[in-house]
This record gives sequence, C-alpha cells and structure tokens, in this order.
Amino acid sequence: MKITVVGAGAVGATVADNIARRELCHELVLVDIKEGIAEGKAMDMNQTATLLGFDTKVVGSTNDYTKTAGSDVAVITSGIPRKPGMTREELIGTNASIVKTVAENLLKHSPNIIIVVISNPMDTMTYLALKSTGLPKNRIIGMGGILDSSRFKYYLTQALGCSASDLHAVVVGGHGDTTMIPLTRLATLNGNPVSNTLDAEALKKVAADTMIGGATLTKLIGTSAWYAPGAAGAALVESIVRDEKKVFACCVSLEGEYGQNDICLGVPVVIGKNGWEKIIDYKLNAEEQAEFNKSADAVRSMNSVLSTLTL
Ligand code: LAC
Repeated sequence: MKITVVGAGAVGATVADNIARRELCHELVLVDIKEGIAEGKAMDMNQTATLLGFDTKVVGSTNDYTKTAGSDVAVITSGIPRKPGMTREELIGTNASIVKTVAENLLKHSPNIIIVVISNPMDTMTYLALKSTGLPKNRIIGMGGILDSSRFKYYLTQALGCSASDLHAVVVGGHGDTTMIPLTRLATLNGNPVSNTLDAEALKKVAADTMIGGATLTKLIGTSAWYAPGAAGAALVESIVRDEKKVFACCVSLEGEYGQNDICLGVPVVIGKNGWEKIIDYKLNAEEQAEFNKSADAVRSMNSVLSTLTL
C-alpha cells in the first residue's frame, strides 16, 4: 500500500503524521511545491518511527510526482489556508488552478488512485477534481462532513457533559460556514435522541457553533486548524485502506440522490476499498431537505465561478 499526501503545510503534515503512526501503508510520499519542506518534514517524521513504533517509510518530494507513482490513495491539501475573517469560498481563485494541476499530476503516475480532497472551498475543489481527472465518481471524495461532524460532537459533549464516543451526530450539505447542516433531529446519545435532553434553544446554539467551528479556530490561531482536519483526513484514508466500510459524511458526486444532480456535496456514504461505495439515505424531513437544497444552490453558484477562471 502506498499513499501520497500533497501539501506539507499544517494540515497535510498532520494527515501524514497520523497515517504513519497508524501504519496505513508501507510508503507514504509527502509532496510540496516549496523546496525542502516535504523532505524536511518527512525526515522529522521518520525520526519519530522508533519512538512511536511504526514502520511506514515517509518520503519527501519537492514537486516530483514520479515519486508518487503507483499510489493507491492520495490526499490533496495544497493551496492557501484561510486568514481570520476570510471565508473558505474566498480561496477559490488561488486554489482552483493548484488543485487541478495536482490532481492531473497524481493521475498521470497513479491511474488507479483514489483522491481525497481537503483544499478549500472543498465542495468546489472536489467537483473540479472530478471533472478535471475524469476519474470514476467513487474515487473522488471531499473531506468536510467528517470533520464538521466531529466538531458537532465536540459541541454536543460540551452541552451534554457526555463522552464523545457515545454520540452519533452528522453534518451534511456544504463545508461552508453557512452551507453546512448539523442534523440535530437525528443526533443521538447511545441511541437516545439528544432532543430528549437538550431544548430547542440549546440545540440551535450547538448547531450555530458547529457551523462556525472552523472560523472560530481560524480567529484564535490566525490560520486554518490542522489537528482535527488532519485526524479526519486520516480516518477517511484508514476506512479506505482497511476496507472498514465506515459511514462518514463526505462530499461526493450526486446523481439524483438527496434530490441533487451535477454537484459534489456532503452526504453519509460507506467508505471502503473502492472509495465511497454507497450513499445512505437519511430520509431528511421537508425542512432539512429545504436546507440541503439551499446549500446546493450556494455550492452550485461557487462551482459556476470555475468557468470564469483560466485554469
Ligand atoms: C477547517 C478547514 C480544513 O474547517 O476547512 O478547519
């Protein structure tokens, strides 16, 4: 098993670190465009191998994609992160050409690859990767809902004083401050709907905090978060390489599911060795479906910006 992570910034390096620690592959290639960064971070990670007890070999590469040849899975984190006050959507001009070039380079050397997209605006970058590579839809997965769902569970633990591992809670829709939809009606604590414990106002606050979860961190840190995005990316890769069939909310190509077409948007999917293998229908009620449609409209209008860019 060989995995490539493109982008050795905070998110990419954290994804790589988690993959190495969990020995998800024999060889892990870390690529960055900036001279020496990937090689340096790869060497640093390799020097933790005896301390943490893993055998994955981490290889750094300054933009040399021949080193990525024969990868089974790649994670794209390249592009600029948000600064405080910026939306993920404002990154489109810079990140679109980067993501398109990276996806095409990966495919050139690894025709059977499964691509996980983390770069923002993630829903549009996933759509772009799908269109520019022409890969089968199951092999392009956007990482957003799994991260937003873990933030949702974090805020629920704060409100309920419970263990995060007892919670099931999912965020669908776009990976944007105004486009994500924390499904409070379906959130449960050991099977018991959280609405049996939290009143409507408390649930509304949990949902609102979840939606600005990334922005809250950007304001505090001065740039995008990396621990949870990195862990979420690695959990997604783990379910692919171990064929775990876990259900995660991921951004995938919709062809009529959830009432949408010609768009990549966050829905619950089964993740296994073939990429995303099946979409699960959570049977949204009318109000949730209306929110989902609104989210799709916003992402579609962001996707339409792609045709105005020279890529
Ligand atoms: C975040 C970035 C990774 O939500 O989109 O932290």
